[in-house]
Amino acid sequence: MKFNIGKNGGVKAELVFEDRLDTDFLKSLSEKEVFAGKPEEVYFSMNSSFESLLLIGLGKESEIEFDMLRRTFFKVAEVLLKHKIEEVELNIPKLNNLCNYKLAEAIAEGMLQATYRFDKFKSERKAVPEITVNYNPIPGKEHRAEKGINEANKLIESIFLARDLINQPANVIYPKTLADIAKERLEKNGVKVTIYGKKEIEELKMEAFLSVARASSKEPKLIVMEYYNNPESDERIALVGKGLTYDSGGYAIKPATGMVTMHMDMGGAGTVIGAMNALSSLKAKVNVVAVVAACENMISGDGYRNGDIIGSMSGKTIEIINTDAEGRLTLADAVYYATSNLGATKLIDLATLTGACAIALGEQVSGAITNNDEFFAKLLAGNERAGEMIWKMPSTEYYKKMNESKVADIKNTGGKYGGMMTAGLFVGSFLAKEIPWIHIDIAGTAGVEKAYGYVGEGATGVMVKSLYYALTE
Ligand code: BES
Ligand code: MG
Ligand code: ZN
Repeated sequence: MKFNIGKNGGVKAELVFEDRLDTDFLKSLSEKEVFAGKPEEVYFSMNSSFESLLLIGLGKESEIEFDMLRRTFFKVAEVLLKHKIEEVELNIPKLNNLCNYKLAEAIAEGMLQATYRFDKFKSERKAVPEITVNYNPIPGKEHRAEKGINEANKLIESIFLARDLINQPANVIYPKTLADIAKERLEKNGVKVTIYGKKEIEELKMEAFLSVARASSKEPKLIVMEYYNNPESDERIALVGKGLTYDSGGYAIKPATGMVTMHMDMGGAGTVIGAMNALSSLKAKVNVVAVVAACENMISGDGYRNGDIIGSMSGKTIEIINTDAEGRLTLADAVYYATSNLGATKLIDLATLTGACAIALGEQVSGAITNNDEFFAKLLAGNERAGEMIWKMPSTEYYKKMNESKVADIKNTGGKYGGMMTAGLFVGSFLAKEIPWIHIDIAGTAGVEKAYGYVGEGATGVMVKSLYYALTE
């Protein structure tokens, strides 16, 4: 899909407001219940001389908001693709007094969302037809529109990168290939990517990470991505992503049906790599470090066991109650490393951590645990700007106590109840110093069974946009 600014040509779209059906034609379409100008409604027809009519419903002008525009223009692009329309003209007036840059961004993003396909492993692949979009903002706002469309393109590229990483199976994406792709995609944007192998991870004494990785024949990799583009600021934000390229459960083996999608257990890693791509390709004025402890949770004669007591980089000992609660162990060392060795001043970890989160919040809302409401408010603003949802869960001493072990410093499950909170608080207890921290559980949202809005089924790339906005606005 290609966007031109200030050009004419192609099927001319007509924006329709449900409370302003001002022609007899529109009134009769509405009376016949064909098209009423409601949000997300798109009407297309073509006559025998190939003259096309494209009506786009925007509801009431006073209620227009960005995520509705994304959803509506996603549908517009779907209709254009279906009817093989190659060129479209969008003349976009001032709408509900919204900023022209954000307006263009939402429209472009919605349309671009319709072009995602995961068909890499199909022998017959159909290319997505190229559409030219002639976008005309109100006169004088061409530069603002250009900025919005450029940002949308880069964000979508980053979201699609995350989706591709997360959708691909574990025989293709494993620690080494994940690390190699991160390096290939990020270094050209000025991100320093360092990949540590088993020997270096041993030297760092990351015993929790190594315990999880031990049964796999794939070498674990610690992937460190550094992007410093604000010399005036002492702030260094760490993004830590869970990078289980496969989670069989280990000796606490998962049932076959639950295991099939566990190549997506590197959803946190895919998200942070996507977010680093967004920040660096858009040259954001920030200092961000991202860390992924990538490995597989497998079974072998040397696998770690339920009942083992292991160490960790922090020095804390951990009683293993369940080898399937592996993500928090890899995150423990990654979070400790980010705060002690990389000098993080604030930290966000993202993980497909608990089934409990997916059960509590479903597939559209991510769950959060934090020790700092001010920092969380910043993230929430980013989510709102992005049209993605997050919900803060309680974190109390009571939940922290649930992780106490009789024989070690902490145990890796907190019991049957409150599983999302105990898992998140386990991770938070490995911060090397008390800095503002947010844990985001994306177990329900990183990959979905049911499509909604412009989010298709499979990997979503959720939180890539939100992180970008939260760290830049
Ligand atoms: N990767 C899973 C969590 C998960 C489940 C992600 C479903 C996406 C969909 C995680 O490693 C896990 O197995 N968690 C256990 C923890 C339990 C053993 C305390 C869970 O949630 O059942
Ligand atoms: Mg598990
Ligand atoms: Zn897992």
